[in-house]
Amino acid sequence: MSQTPLQAAQALANGDLILLPTETVYGLGADASNAEAVAAIFAAKGRPKFNPLISHVADVDAAAKIGELGPLGLALADVFWPGPFTLITPILDTRSVCDLARAGLDSVAIRVPAHPVAREVLAAFGGPVVAPSANRSGRPSPTTFTDAVEETGFAVSAAVDGGPCQVGLESTVVSVLGGRVALLRPGAITRSEIEAVVGPIEEGAEGHRSPGRLTLHYAPDAPVRIEADAARDGEILLGFGPEAGEPRWSLSPSGDLHEAAANLFRLLREADRTRPTGIAVSPIPTTGLGEAINDRLRRAAGFVG
Ligand code: TXA
Ligand code: MG
Repeated sequence: MSQTPLQAAQALANGDLILLPTETVYGLGADASNAEAVAAIFAAKGRPKFNPLISHVADVDAAAKIGELGPLGLALADVFWPGPFTLITPILDTRSVCDLARAGLDSVAIRVPAHPVAREVLAAFGGPVVAPSANRSGRPSPTTFTDAVEETGFAVSAAVDGGPCQVGLESTVVSVLGGRVALLRPGAITRSEIEAVVGPIEEGAEGHRSPGRLTLHYAPDAPVRIEADAARDGEILLGFGPEAGEPRWSLSPSGDLHEAAANLFRLLREADRTRPTGIAVSPIPTTGLGEAINDRLRRAAGFVG
């Protein structure tokens, strides 16, 4: 059972939660101005209240109303929106994005998603929609409608099926606070794509100002072992490249990073359902999209920070 984008927008206006497809992962959405609805998101996910949410809006104009984009933000928005890209900017409108949504910070995370269904919902609703990934806190993000419903479907009054997510990894989170660019979460837009717009990104601030990066994340129930050459007894090997494990469990038989990103969370979930003693994962190159894939894998394996 799936609802229409219009029904989802109506649910948001009623103060209810929705399941929303985006090109990255499925989101659990609420009206960003409605503190009660936002509180229901934290409750459904079991998410610590110090971890702020991303506000999704229809276009750059709507973004510029809630956050101070500045020249750096505008340059990045121009290239990467709509798309899998999130900007942290000073907050301008504390009514449209309530304090709880920002975890009390004086900054706001903004994204203009590209998925046509997400865009329809945002256009019909007309205001910012907070939407964290629709998983319960600490678990892999859902990249299919069924996985999203299984994770947090109990909490919503409308769920829109937008098919499998094309990207499969969460958006890249970039801060432009204080007039400098910091990469807070590697994601679908790569470091070098960002540097092509704003020049070299300074190292150092990464992670520190993104509260959500401090906790165990993306973890299935089975222990995850990374950089594995082969499966040990009872393990499933998620392979990468030709001849790494069984084709059925391959992240990408041809060694394609985009394909691996799109398959990662789904295969972690499917492997977990077979109750293996562990999930082993082949080494993944660290270049390009590989930075974000390795980031999620390290966290799934319990190496945080
Ligand atoms: O692709 C995505 O970004 C998905 C889809 C649904 O849009 N959403 C998503 O949301 O991944 P979530 O809540 O799982 O991740 C939001 C990240 C967290 O790491 C959070 O700490 C960070 O953004 N964040 C949000 N507001 C922030 C702020 N004001 N300053 C620093 N980090 C912030
Ligand atoms: Mg998440």
